[in-house]
Amino acid sequence: MVCAPFEELGDASKPVDSVCLRVSSVRDRDVQLFDTARRMRRGVYVSDDAGRPSRSLDALLHEIDPGVTSTIHRHSWDAMVLCIGGWGWTEIDGQRINWGPGDALHLPAWAWHRHGNEGTEVARFMTASSEPLLETMGMAIDEEAGDTPFDQLPTRPPYAESIEGNDPFAVRINRLANDQEQRRAGRLHTSWDDVELLKSPRGQRTAFLLDRSIGYGASGLSMVVGEFAPGRGQKFIHRHPGEAWLYVLEGHGHSIIGTEPDKCEEHPWEKGDLIVVDHFLWHQHFNDDKERTAKLVRMHIFDSLLETMRALCYPLTLFEEPPDAHTAPDNQVPPVWPDETPRPTWP
Ligand SMILES: [Fe+2]
Ligand SMILES: [Fe+2]
Repeated sequence: MVCAPFEELGDASKPVDSVCLRVSSVRDRDVQLFDTARRMRRGVYVSDDAGRPSRSLDALLHEIDPGVTSTIHRHSWDAMVLCIGGWGWTEIDGQRINWGPGDALHLPAWAWHRHGNEGTEVARFMTASSEPLLETMGMAIDEEAGDTPFDQLPTRPPYAESIEGNDPFAVRINRLANDQEQRRAGRLHTSWDDVELLKSPRGQRTAFLLDRSIGYGASGLSMVVGEFAPGRGQKFIHRHPGEAWLYVLEGHGHSIIGTEPDKCEEHPWEKGDLIVVDHFLWHQHFNDDKERTAKLVRMHIFDSLLETMRALCYPLTLFEEPPDAHTAPDNQVPPVWPDETPRPTWP
């Protein structure tokens, strides 16, 4: 599906499907991997690069073979990495981080990075980045550096440091300097070994993998793992703005997704698939396995893009559940959760 030009977005006579992404899932088996000049393979879940354009986030799949080190590059957008299978490493501005399945990393804007695999099996990870958002604004820039050593590469763009004064010039300089200081000191890695899943009021167990609340300095990118108990699903159908991806880390189930609560279609999913929740689609996810839990990793742009939407759309309600959702009796007994949360496996 091709997105309509911007001028059609406000045209109520156009069907909703003609202006948005509206793909509801991308199966792992449909993601074709290609060899690339970076010495890695790349596949596309969602991106203009393969005919599934989006407005805020993309979603790519990457593989690197044993013994391979990729070339170095950097870009004006930032990206979050979810490690899926195998063991590898990533260097970010020369800082090496070893990773394994279930780990998350942040690739900050303008940070040089490359990946390597010193193991014996293929290492696989996916990324979700703010590239589409920056491309919309004409600010998406990619820079390739081949095999140039990190210490011979230019640093991230320098910025003006704080100055004395309360005039409008000083106020802006100081505000921006403060923001850059915090973002550039942000966290880069979450190891799966340190992830503690906690029960949420909505019946799942969840943990942030990458988010401002746990010390990351991303552009609002956020990644959270949610575990669904055997045979259970989300309590309520709901909708909210913003593109969101749900990568199926473990298990199998289905989601209902549609433009009205009573006009939803069922989309089955299994490990490796990406559930695509386009903005304002009603949706609800279910674990169909009666014995095992399922784990979905949700990725979206939260504290910048959604907060901006919230501010611009105020006082419209952006997070919605059907009016009768809260009156539904909850007779289910509390789920039994496994004691261990081992690293995910691939395949
Ligand atoms: Fe990159
Ligand atoms: Fe949701």
